[in-house]
Amino acid sequence: MNFPQKLLACWHPVAYSHEVGSEKPLGTFLLDQAVVVWRSSDGSVHAMRDLCIHRGTALSLGWVKEDCLVCPYHAWEYDKQGKCVFIPQAPEIAIPDKACTPTYHCQEKFGLIWVALKEPVYPLPEIPELENGDWKVVQTGPFDWYSDASRQVENFTDFGHFPWVHPGLLGDPQRPEVPAHKVRIDGAVLHYTIVRPEAQNSEDFPVFANEEVVQPERRSEYRLHLPYTIVLRLGWGGEKGMVYFFVSQPISSNQCRGYCIIGRNYNLEDPDSVLQDFEQVIFDQDKRIVESQRPEQVPFDFAEELHLKFDAVAMNYRRAMKAEGLAY
Ligand code: FES
Ligand SMILES: [Fe+2]
Repeated sequence: MNFPQKLLACWHPVAYSHEVGSEKPLGTFLLDQAVVVWRSSDGSVHAMRDLCIHRGTALSLGWVKEDCLVCPYHAWEYDKQGKCVFIPQAPEIAIPDKACTPTYHCQEKFGLIWVALKEPVYPLPEIPELENGDWKVVQTGPFDWYSDASRQVENFTDFGHFPWVHPGLLGDPQRPEVPAHKVRIDGAVLHYTIVRPEAQNSEDFPVFANEEVVQPERRSEYRLHLPYTIVLRLGWGGEKGMVYFFVSQPISSNQCRGYCIIGRNYNLEDPDSVLQDFEQVIFDQDKRIVESQRPEQVPFDFAEELHLKFDAVAMNYRRAMKAEGLAY
């Protein structure tokens, strides 16, 4: 797939921080590019093409040694700049300039490792709730789906499906109308807020902060950062709040991996497994629907699907992705 160059110039998540230790590198794919991520002795993370120049072996099968990544086949050593600095079979020779592998931009934030294949054009969002230490933060997933990241993101923003795909958990089939909402596009960020009916807290998953009212409502304030990042703040009219940080890794044009990090300022003593189990149920309910969608990628041309007024987010997402040169 020929991805737009601008998509390569965005930060994308490639792993939860804990998935990359100090000895074993991690191999993954970003927009069809094989990427290896590893840690040097100071704990910092590095990303490079997952390919040894000698015989094309995946470097991610190797190991980390003295701030170098060692190829598993003939043990050539690559430093943080991607330069081969040691060839055990011929330690005397001058190492050819060609002996290197391209490096990528790499950083760690919000408990995720982020990679940009080209000079990044957008900053990561600000989410103080996840960094101030007062809120309880839980990592859920990751959610590996056979769909494009754009479909996974649109599903996360889709209001009309809650009563049907998540009855009793996120929506109520007796109240299927989608409340009016306006979407504002500010460059590469979509802003919208919706107050919508919420299912009663279920006994299996008492995760939300609505009180014992007959028809609970939830205020959801969204920021959709193009291309695949959503920051959702939930409130129920009081002090209690929740923040959902969802971001999808575009592995290929028909494969993605969703990371969902949830912060809250109530029920601080609840075990992480309550939210992790809840989100696993929700995402599994969505997965079978989204994996059935054709084409696997969101069609950015409006004529290709049928849009109604309550699909305002999807329409604006498609419009903005095109305007920013991120659609394909
Ligand atoms: S293939 Fe990597 S060292 Fe030979
Ligand atoms: Fe859903």
